[in-house]
Amino acid sequence: MSNTLQENQDYKKYMVDSKLQYYKPHATKIEKTFSQEISASLNCKSKFISPKFFYDKKGSELFEKICTLPEYYPTRTEVSILEKLPVELLPFLDDSTRLVELGSGASVKTRLILDIFTKLQEKTEYFPIDISEILTESSELLLSNYNQLHITGIIDTYEGGLEFLKNYDDKKNLILFLGSSFGNFSPHDGYAFLQKIHSTMKSGDLFLIGLDLVKDKQILENAYNDSQGVTAEFNLNVLSRINDELDADFDLKNFEHHSVYHEEKQRIEMYLKSLVNQSVIISKSNLKLNLDKDELIHTEYSHKYNLSQIHTLLDSVGFSIENSWLDDKKLFSLTLVSKN
Ligand code: AVJ
Repeated sequence: MSNTLQENQDYKKYMVDSKLQYYKPHATKIEKTFSQEISASLNCKSKFISPKFFYDKKGSELFEKICTLPEYYPTRTEVSILEKLPVELLPFLDDSTRLVELGSGASVKTRLILDIFTKLQEKTEYFPIDISEILTESSELLLSNYNQLHITGIIDTYEGGLEFLKNYDDKKNLILFLGSSFGNFSPHDGYAFLQKIHSTMKSGDLFLIGLDLVKDKQILENAYNDSQGVTAEFNLNVLSRINDELDADFDLKNFEHHSVYHEEKQRIEMYLKSLVNQSVIISKSNLKLNLDKDELIHTEYSHKYNLSQIHTLLDSVGFSIENSWLDDKKLFSLTLVSKN
């Protein structure tokens, strides 16, 4: 078996018991990346912070809270589509198909798919890939609910996880990429990422992607400016994380959550707005950051698509489209593709 990560010095393998193991990059690798990326992305003309850094423990909890907000329709809509899928997914699965998930988070939606797998299989293998430590907690919870489940978790970026999967063995994989997380990518990076997934897949593997659809601007802006301010807290939390982990002195009172829908670009754009002229020290990144009043730090894109764009995109990467499902109001989509 060519398990690439086992020989990779960058990762440490944690064997919890016979049903749970996970892989995690050595602490130094993570910290170096975080501090280097932050110093590069804040030390340029259009300052930004990558949305992958939202998900420390607090950020992951805040995101779970966002998912339950009345204004945030994507999660509950995607769940409603997933609930109707089982019968249609069955013909694509066999008794050894493995479930892989990119950005598994709290693995709540995963359960709807696991219910299908565990009905069909005696032993079900699940490979969650997530940048957040939340992965270990959610894995243990899943194992306590599903007897025949075996979990190999990878606490790393999507790319690291996909490297792990490549040539792992001959079993068929169903790769999940839910929640419209793909919408974070710029069109260019998104295309490259789909190519990466395509090249990771063996012939016969499947890929199920959840994407948010273009809709009324007001619905979109409400979803990213909720009345309880949880999205604002989630956005600002990345500054607390930088304070804690990179020894910085961001004063959160001097920043404001700002998010708008850009109709032409079909995306929500999220920023942290500096409310005053200020300078901030980020010790571990060796950076003194100067911000003008009203200057924006970009933190997230959330792209929205229409069905024909989704099909054209997936088709152009070389996938075969097997099926697409929408909710009644056409708010959200799930698309299943294969590689021939
Ligand atoms: C996890 C990227 C899908 O874009 O809707 C939610 C993140 N940001 N509210 C999204 C998010 C603000 C979410 N994704």
